[in-house]
Amino acid sequence: MLLSSAEINAPKQTNTHSSSQHPTRETVILATNLSKSVGSGEHILQILQDLQLQIQAGERVAIVGSSGSGKSTLLGILAGLDVPSSGLVSIQGNAFSTLDEDARAAMRGQYMGFVFQSFQLLPTMTALENVMIPMQLNGHPTPLQTAQESLAKVGLAERMQHYPKQLSGGEQQRVAIARAFAAKPAVLFADEPTGNLDTANGEKIIELLFKLNQENSTTLVLVTHDVRLAQRCDRVLTLQDGQLSEQAYA
Ligand SMILES: Nc1ncnc2c1ncn2[C@@H]1O[C@H](COP(=O)(O)OP(=O)(O)OP(=O)(O)O)[C@@H](O)[C@H]1O
Ligand SMILES: [Mg+2]
Repeated sequence: MLLSSAEINAPKQTNTHSSSQHPTRETVILATNLSKSVGSGEHILQILQDLQLQIQAGERVAIVGSSGSGKSTLLGILAGLDVPSSGLVSIQGNAFSTLDEDARAAMRGQYMGFVFQSFQLLPTMTALENVMIPMQLNGHPTPLQTAQESLAKVGLAERMQHYPKQLSGGEQQRVAIARAFAAKPAVLFADEPTGNLDTANGEKIIELLFKLNQENSTTLVLVTHDVRLAQRCDRVLTLQDGQLSEQAYA
């Protein structure tokens, strides 16, 4: 579902979480003068250009924009999965984009969760292992118990020993959400988390994301074409011509 400007500008009824109510909250994500280009010579493609972004703790932020505008690229850079061509990203005051891959991986493990449109579960591992192993690798003190609790929270207590191919799309995305929230990250990034799901399953995933966001005070950064998801957020930012602009609510 594509967002129209009228839908984006419609007043929201569920905005009980506005950043203006928390003027003193700390900045969790700060991106300054972020640029990203790919290719070389005459075939250079400028995806992000001098982009600025500041997100406060606990905010729910939607990033929208047309296909190819660079949303996934931006999310990947904010999450340290990719590096900018220039500019800086810091997460909870830690400069991030200048670190090497190992150091970025350590920071991702410590502060971030990521939910992809295509779930990205490891097919040879059970649901439980998919949630538990990343925590084990990051030195979490109780990976088994925490993974079990996290899967129970997304309603999959009975399906922990199943492999991804034995689970429906909605169930696989719930495993991915359990994995992303398990270590209680400060920030959860999600790239079109409902994009591969039908309406009913998409609805369940949205409910789950916002429920876990409330319980854990997680900062949510969501890329989405889904108007239901964007309208639940505190802010909607549109990516166009390599820069973000904020939608003003009427
Ligand atoms: N490694 C790369 N090499 C060349 N071009 C790339 C690379 N990564 C991204 N692009 C291009 O950069 C642009 C932005 O891609 P991106 O995936 O970030 O868009 P998007 O806004 O997420 O799109 P969609 O809504 O379709 O998912 C696209 O034109 C894409 O083809
Ligand atoms: Mg994308």
